[in-house]
Amino acid sequence: AQTTPESVAESIVTDKFAFAFDIDGVLIRGGKVIPAAVEAMKMLNGENDYGIKVPYIFVTNGGGKTEQERCLQLSQQLEMEVSPGQFICGHTPMREMAERYKTVLVVGGEGEKCRHVAEGYGFKDVVTPGDIIKDNKDTTPFRKLTDEEYKNSRARNFAEVEIEAIFVFADSRDWASDQQIILDLLMSKNGRLGTRSENFDEGPPVFFSHNDMVWSTSHDLTRIGMGALRVSLEAMYKAVTGKDLQTTAFGKPQIGTFEFATRLLQQWRKDTHGINCPPDTVYFVGDTPESDIRGTNEFNQHAENTWYSILVRTGVFQAGTTPRFAPKATVDNVLDAVKHGMEREY
Ligand code: G3P
Ligand code: MG
Repeated sequence: AQTTPESVAESIVTDKFAFAFDIDGVLIRGGKVIPAAVEAMKMLNGENDYGIKVPYIFVTNGGGKTEQERCLQLSQQLEMEVSPGQFICGHTPMREMAERYKTVLVVGGEGEKCRHVAEGYGFKDVVTPGDIIKDNKDTTPFRKLTDEEYKNSRARNFAEVEIEAIFVFADSRDWASDQQIILDLLMSKNGRLGTRSENFDEGPPVFFSHNDMVWSTSHDLTRIGMGALRVSLEAMYKAVTGKDLQTTAFGKPQIGTFEFATRLLQQWRKDTHGINCPPDTVYFVGDTPESDIRGTNEFNQHAENTWYSILVRTGVFQAGTTPRFAPKATVDNVLDAVKHGMEREY
């Protein structure tokens, strides 16, 4: 059967199954859309032979801008509307920490973007590495703030400030200076810069928005990501203090992220399609075995066998290798993943 605008309009929304998509390496690569992604979305939106529309959400470990901003960008790339109600990024679950910590250091991303994200989550007092360098330029011997950074950074006396927690929201743009500042805080008395704890047991906790060692972007080969910064920081802390550093990572493959995604999908299906029952199957399409496939498979054991992992060959995972975590299916790209799910249902 040929799909026409009329048949798309008449298609019925299925309550039986749903899709969830990773973004980098599945839909987008190096800021550019992967062409199969546009076709895959059309298929879910009714351009298929089954006369159905399939609800879906997006679950990325990426971040660095507000959910609204990211959805706007994704809408342009995918040539359809993406709503924040169907979108989670690495730092989205961190908003629940705004109640617990007042003064926090937020690391990563471009310019002031992550400060705005954190403030939008309700964090009351958000400090950036730039604020700290502005207060004491000797903090980072080889990093000088640009005029723009100097202007945007907020001057204050950090000898009087206690930083209660450290959040890495997005990839660091300057590992050396960001790690120096994080290390200073970890070794401080109660997050007060300029102090040193005797036993290094008084520093603030560190949270990473995800733990991807590598990710897929415009280079042919994978590039190091936030998980690499995490192991680097832990190794450095050990070398300097002789102690082990415990840090926490959000994002995939954490079960909490998949629980968050389940609640989001439930709300999305209810609000936009009036569906009140849970789906029998959620097809998760990802490119990174360690986060997407591992997370989906482990969550599946908690979720009564309703999550089904599909690995694509357009990102981190490359054909000819064996993934460390085995998916239920491996296909070339996201369009084939959507076709695979639909064929399995009908
Ligand atoms: O920095 C983002 C990257 O590590 C992964 O993003 O969309 O593949 O989960 P995504
Ligand atoms: Mg990915």
